Amino acid sequence: MSKRDCKLILALDLPEKEPAVEILRGLRGKLEWVKIGLQMYLKYGAELVREVSAMGFKIFLDLKLFDIPNTVASAVESVAALPVSMLTIHASGGREMIEAAVKAAERTNPDLAILGVTVLTSFDADSLAETGVELEPEWQVELLAKLAVSGGVRGLVCSPLEIGRLRGIVPEGVALVTPGIRPAGASSDEQKRIMTPSEAAEAGSDFIVVGRPILKAEDPAAAVEKILGEIDA
Ligand code: C5P
Repeated sequence: MSKRDCKLILALDLPEKEPAVEILRGLRGKLEWVKIGLQMYLKYGAELVREVSAMGFKIFLDLKLFDIPNTVASAVESVAALPVSMLTIHASGGREMIEAAVKAAERTNPDLAILGVTVLTSFDADSLAETGVELEPEWQVELLAKLAVSGGVRGLVCSPLEIGRLRGIVPEGVALVTPGIRPAGASSDEQKRIMTPSEAAEAGSDFIVVGRPILKAEDPAAAVEKILGEIDA
């Protein structure tokens, strides 16, 4: 399979804003996308989103929304007023919730792509069963991916090991966004099922999400360049 155009997203998972902004200053012009998750969003909120956007980065807001459809739609409308390009919701919130999120984005900010999260990679068959889900995780991932796509999401967040399976069942235009990426030779931290940037790009990932290997690097800009080089390799 020929490689798709695969982009790098930095997961900005840090406890304090200043060191995060300092790292981003050094990445201007080298990196396009930044993922802001709950840790930073709950502390620094919309102001951080505006600040990172004003630095020239595109923003993926990883809030993994899950609530009744009306509440999720209202939350999407709040986010749509911010310079955010991608936002996550839980596909397990059901068809009505997914459609409400997608419609709210279309209505308020058509440039905002809603992405579906299927089964968190922290789940295994036993922990899924404890929540009443008897399907094997990979079948539940497939089921939720199909549901999310039919509900109108523009992308799915998945493990790199699920790319092959999902590429076979979702349309080409649906973006696959994959964390669990480690550059060749880097520490895996606690990530278990990992791929290198090159392997993920080869498998059909559209966006790879990398946090600690860049944030903890002595030279984050050099780490970004190494990863971009690996994607193109
Ligand atoms: O530091 P690291 O590269 O492991 O960061 C990966 C990012 O992707 C984190 O923000 C983490 O929450 C997120 N993520 C993940 N695995 C998933 C879903 C999201 O690592 N299954």
